[in-house]
Amino acid sequence: MKKVGLVGWRGMVGSVLMSRMVEEGDFARIDPVFFTTSQAGQPAPDFGKDAGTLQDAYDIDALKALDVVLTCQGGDYTKEVYPRLRAAGWNGYWIDAASALRMDDDAIIVLDPVNGKQIQQALSNGVKTFVGGNCTVSLMLMALGGLFEQDLVEWVSVATYQAASGGGARHMRELVTQMGMLRDEVAAELADPGSAILELERKITEKTRSGDLPVDNFGVPLAGSLIPWIDTQLENGQSREEWKGQAETNKILQTGAAIPVDGLCVRIGALRCHSQAFTIKLKQDISIPEIEKLLASHNDWVKVIPNDRQLSMEELTPAAVTGTLTVPVGRLRKLNMGPEYLSAFTVGDQLLWGAAEPLRRMLHLLP
Ligand code: HSE
Repeated sequence: MKKVGLVGWRGMVGSVLMSRMVEEGDFARIDPVFFTTSQAGQPAPDFGKDAGTLQDAYDIDALKALDVVLTCQGGDYTKEVYPRLRAAGWNGYWIDAASALRMDDDAIIVLDPVNGKQIQQALSNGVKTFVGGNCTVSLMLMALGGLFEQDLVEWVSVATYQAASGGGARHMRELVTQMGMLRDEVAAELADPGSAILELERKITEKTRSGDLPVDNFGVPLAGSLIPWIDTQLENGQSREEWKGQAETNKILQTGAAIPVDGLCVRIGALRCHSQAFTIKLKQDISIPEIEKLLASHNDWVKVIPNDRQLSMEELTPAAVTGTLTVPVGRLRKLNMGPEYLSAFTVGDQLLWGAAEPLRRMLHLLP
């Protein structure tokens, strides 16, 4: 049984990971050791298995005793500990939710329903570092995997609608606080159905601009608004989130010639589901039924939603998808630009397939 060190298990992604591991009975298959950055020596959590006491996450000797490190602690931890651990001669498997090592030549981005073959190949080549992908990229590939697998995609243009959870737990709290403050501002107008709607809107807008809403995390109000920039600014005018789309997609798929993937990444007021609208240039004119068949048969989690108003409203939304592993894809139709131009819309839980699930599954792919 592999000795698996769990780091960052208490945070948001870590908590989702722990609950998925409990649901799937994963703890019966590993010998878990829980690490902490602040509470070494205290009792480890009980996920159905006695794991003794918490170990110091910066103790290289304690980490060296492991077969696997599985970390959701974040990029700063990875940057500090990973090089020291490798330099100390540790040759175990490092599985990481953070992006720090993602583009390293000796790291594989894991999303096994999409790149299971590449992962197996990497394992037999002795690769020891496996990193979860960016959430929008993973969710796009879970949804559109059937088209990429058949090499039908010439390019993808994307507009994202990304949830607050992508920023972190504090961002979610900030969004809901903003929502509550805006609602409270117009409590009287809402209670009176006869109140003037433009007066209600004026008060909301005034409150939004007043500087009273908490914006420590997002920088500007998000509730009732949106933010058309995610992550840092690159010199070419892209946001880092937009840059990841093409870089990570092609790394995951190990495509020879890069498939162009580009677009705009936008933060919206959803809590934990990222949605994405795609314009896809196909390499050939294939029919919508054929496209639906390819998409639906690609993996066990993608669900094709027929391009129907009611079904789209019921099944293709963050409200419907949050907390599930299902990745619906719909709004599939040929665009006016021509028969090789396809539209698609997908929604996925950013903390499940977008973060915790590929890491959990990687644990079981290790030899
Ligand atoms: N960068 C993503 C976001 C988080 O901000 O939504 C998941 O990779």
